[in-house]
Amino acid sequence: MSNVHVLDHPLLQHKLSILRNKDTGVKEFREVVGEIAALMCYEATRNLPTEEITIETPIAPAKVRVLAGKKLAIVPILRAGLGMVDAMVDLVPSAKIGHIGLFRDPETHEPVKYYCKMPPDIADRQVFIVDPMLATGGSASDAITFIKEYGCRNITLMNILAAPEGIAKVQTDHPDVDIFVAAVDEKLNDHAYIVPGLGDAGDRIFGTK
Ligand code: PRP
Ligand code: URA
Repeated sequence: MSNVHVLDHPLLQHKLSILRNKDTGVKEFREVVGEIAALMCYEATRNLPTEEITIETPIAPAKVRVLAGKKLAIVPILRAGLGMVDAMVDLVPSAKIGHIGLFRDPETHEPVKYYCKMPPDIADRQVFIVDPMLATGGSASDAITFIKEYGCRNITLMNILAAPEGIAKVQTDHPDVDIFVAAVDEKLNDHAYIVPGLGDAGDRIFGTK
């Protein structure tokens, strides 16, 4: 069963309250999505393997630890996942970036794929799939399935806000994938929006509504 990590750090909870507020404008919403992504990235990368190397400081040789083994790939689910990418790349500048375009059919709420482009060596990388919202879990589960088709086996899912239904779906479909979220809300409404949630993340990041 996948591990679910709820990152209820006070900074995250405070910033999430800004996203939830319907009066928060596009500029601030976008900035705070980035700040939350950075804080979540810090926690989600906590167990990355390191190795010891020796370097020269201006004073003396020093044994230091650097990231080892698999390199990272960040895969945003378009559109809203794009809002989390820049802040993560600031922290992990060598990460490569893949894109998966999915939108939810407004009637069925099922994800529809419209784009996919991955780095050629994605199978050798630890993959962080990012999307602010995990609602029914359909988009995240499909995205993970697509990534696995490239041969990736080391996959982490990062969502800012989740519904219990979405977590359950990913756990059932992909028990090998760890999930990091800043909060788990109460439920989905009849339109499969998270309640109380923060509304439509893509529209609020890009100002399309
Ligand atoms: C939103 C969100 C997720 C998906 C979550 O994207 O960013 O990708 O819905 O819902 P699910 O868990 O029920 O699949 P949306 O389809 O609205 O597309 P957008 O990012 O282009 O706005
Ligand atoms: N997608 C969103 O952007 N918000 C929700 O609440 C559910 C899906």
